[in-house]
Amino acid sequence: MPSTPTLLLLLLAASARCSAALIRAPLTRHDDATFIDVVREGLVRFEGLLSSLGGGDGDIVIKDYQNSQYFGQMSVGTPGQSFDVIFDTGSANLWVPAKDCTNCGGRIVGRKHKYDRTASSTYVVDDAAFAIEYGSGPVSGNWSVDTANMGGFDIEAQRFAEVKDASGLGIAYKLGKFDGILGLAFDTISIDKTPTPFKNLMDQGKIDRGVFSFYLGKTDGADGELVIGGIDESHFDGALFWMPVSRVGYWQLDLDDVSMSGLSVGADAQAIVDSGTSLLTGPSDAVRTLASIVGAKRNVVGEYLVDCDATHPDLTFRIGRRDFTLTSEEYVIRASEDSCLFAILAMDIPPPGGPLWILGDVFMRKWYTVFDYEHEQLGFALAA
Ligand SMILES: *[C@@H]1O[C@H](CO)[C@@H](O)[C@H](O)[C@H]1NC(C)=O
Repeated sequence: MPSTPTLLLLLLAASARCSAALIRAPLTRHDDATFIDVVREGLVRFEGLLSSLGGGDGDIVIKDYQNSQYFGQMSVGTPGQSFDVIFDTGSANLWVPAKDCTNCGGRIVGRKHKYDRTASSTYVVDDAAFAIEYGSGPVSGNWSVDTANMGGFDIEAQRFAEVKDASGLGIAYKLGKFDGILGLAFDTISIDKTPTPFKNLMDQGKIDRGVFSFYLGKTDGADGELVIGGIDESHFDGALFWMPVSRVGYWQLDLDDVSMSGLSVGADAQAIVDSGTSLLTGPSDAVRTLASIVGAKRNVVGEYLVDCDATHPDLTFRIGRRDFTLTSEEYVIRASEDSCLFAILAMDIPPPGGPLWILGDVFMRKWYTVFDYEHEQLGFALAA
């Protein structure tokens, strides 16, 4: 256990850089956005390991680690080898650490489950080189093919990566609770256009509906739920509000505006909904303006620290002519006893892919989100 606890923020929107046919520009991090390696006081709660897990009916229990990392269980191989993965709507590949990976997590804290191909009767050799670039950094290894399982559904012949080096993800991986990442974006942004686990489930006729739905627990540390192939109406109030995906790749939509105190900072923009990003991000000019409204001070790693006690104005994302409003209680994150973080980071994503706002876990905690792959649309309702 580290003596200095950490806030293990993630930024898992995948960069297009590594994928040949990609339309979008690399997702480059803003210089200041090395926040991921920040060690800070407070917040870490070394919770017990996973216990109850869903299965068979599409339900996956989503565990919350520090309100920064949301992960659940899936398996690879026959018999199944279990992994805790981030179900990441900002990327489109599946990877788990290889058995012989020496750059995958710590030896004691952050120990990872590792995939042993020799222990699986359904393993098929591939071994071509694999590399992916996330906002948080690069990961590399080799491709393999095996049966996978999520939500109790078997996925035949899933091409995935056995990772040999995940050190690029830094401390958020090393000390984090997850072994690998399961990308849930469209396979147009998957490396080599490899069909994603979800696309394979659809194509293999395993699920009734080509949708999956996220509920992140409402309170600190409470379990959330990912439903594969369905929608759980017990976890939201009212009707779902549907928005078309504006560009297939990420789960991207048109953003009418972003505003605070009546001041518009992001008219006619684009946003992606990304379960693998802990906070929110926006173009640096806009974020600077928002930070000045709430009186946030930028620290050396580009995070904005804000007064814990004051009440700040609402932050509104206008989508489909509807207001999605976060109160200061929802966008101020306690980082330690006496320091608080303004939950939005500056990140400039260059054209043609950008500029983009990223609506990460801070947004998804408030709104239950349905990702309708089949009809290329997103559904939102207040989480309950
Ligand atoms: C595995 O990938 C690495 C690069 O990540 C590559 O150098 C190596 O040749 C690959 N292994 C095989 C057997 O192709």
